[in-house]
Amino acid sequence: MNILILGGGGREHSLAWAIKQNPKCDRLIVAPGNAGIAQIADCATLDIEDGDAVASFCADKAIDFVVIGPEAPLAAGVADVLRANDILVFGCSGAAAQLESSKSFTKAICDACNAPTAAYAHFTDAEAAKSYVTEQGAPIVIKADGLAAGKGVVVAMDLATAHAAIDDMLGGQFGDAGAEVVIEEFMEGEEASFFLLCDGETVLPVGTAQDHKRAFDGDKGPNTGGMGAYSPAPVLTEAVAQKALDEIVQPTVTEMAKRGTPFQGVLYAGLMIKDGQPRLVEYNVRFGDPECQVLMMRLGAQILDLLHACARGELANVRPIWADDHAMTIVMAAEGYPGSYEKGTVIKGLDAAPDTSSATVFHAGTTEANGQITATGGRVLNVTARGASLKDAHASAYGIVDAIDWPEGFFRRDIGHRAL
Ligand code: AMP
Ligand code: GLY
Repeated sequence: MNILILGGGGREHSLAWAIKQNPKCDRLIVAPGNAGIAQIADCATLDIEDGDAVASFCADKAIDFVVIGPEAPLAAGVADVLRANDILVFGCSGAAAQLESSKSFTKAICDACNAPTAAYAHFTDAEAAKSYVTEQGAPIVIKADGLAAGKGVVVAMDLATAHAAIDDMLGGQFGDAGAEVVIEEFMEGEEASFFLLCDGETVLPVGTAQDHKRAFDGDKGPNTGGMGAYSPAPVLTEAVAQKALDEIVQPTVTEMAKRGTPFQGVLYAGLMIKDGQPRLVEYNVRFGDPECQVLMMRLGAQILDLLHACARGELANVRPIWADDHAMTIVMAAEGYPGSYEKGTVIKGLDAAPDTSSATVFHAGTTEANGQITATGGRVLNVTARGASLKDAHASAYGIVDAIDWPEGFFRRDIGHRAL
């Protein structure tokens, strides 16, 4: 099978790494890829948000199967164009991508299928929004309706912060994404991520993980795309996962199908869990980054069979085989991230890092020039390891991190602190 993966981050490196191990994979191309991906696959330059360009690339290269990594091509409808051209694709339609791209869309779906989530109201008028917030009281959560690169959520512990967030968002801080705000009840509990493949009808859980959103140790500092993750998430016990499947995800998938916009791809349910009851925080329509990296390390080569069955609508015939193991990934980021940071700094010591089925370094933002690996993004490396226990995975991953020589980088020392 000739396979094309769209994307170029740590998520896509881990997908490529796992897919490449499957003997059914003949040729693997990743667009745009990065320096780490280039070590295991061909990288191509391609406008991955242009469906027609991707479809003609597939025809040129005799691609049999496309896997879409990030949300932008999904929201742009690339999967729709590929399906219209009879190209097998793993990834949801543009209509179904609204589960991530519109918070009010997701809220309406939850209402229609009675899925437990925070109570909410939505507004386009700042005065009306502020008087609602004053009535409800703090803490309260203010969200820009559309995609805002993970920055469109303010958890306001007091009313002044809530009012300021409303003014910022409706005042155009996020452009069109903030033309409407969703105001939500503040949910207490522990957060975890639940990943499920859906072929439009059948839903198949493919793992749980916990991310670390803040930049610094002790969950301090600004929000980031994620500074480290581990899998499985102990808070998502079998009983809680079953509840999330029965009460939230399956009803969502049924509702999407009923509306004529079936969901086919991976659903990433961000859950808040309190006293054994999960409630939905948000959906994403892609694998999490860096959560994907720990899932791929645990699933390995079988992920290709699972994604392929999902794309063919045959999920009912497959099951993941789980080892009773744990995986952890540590994000190494450029000093200054998520704010401004230097590009082009040299990373040394990567040649000596292990590259086995239980420890490897996934690249996120890197390029290679003159035989040297340089940092080109905010999140740059994802050092990933697994072990019989989370403690083993932790020791193995940090051992590798400590051997990497990159003075301009930083990382958190406390990934996994909740579970350890
Ligand atoms: P979102 O982009 O919707 O995932 O929100 C980003 C983060 O804000 C989440 O991961 C939560 O930590 C927090 N958050 C969002 N909505 C709520 C809520 N209703 N109650 C408490 N925390 C929330
Ligand atoms: N790590 C969080 C995300 O992928 O959205």
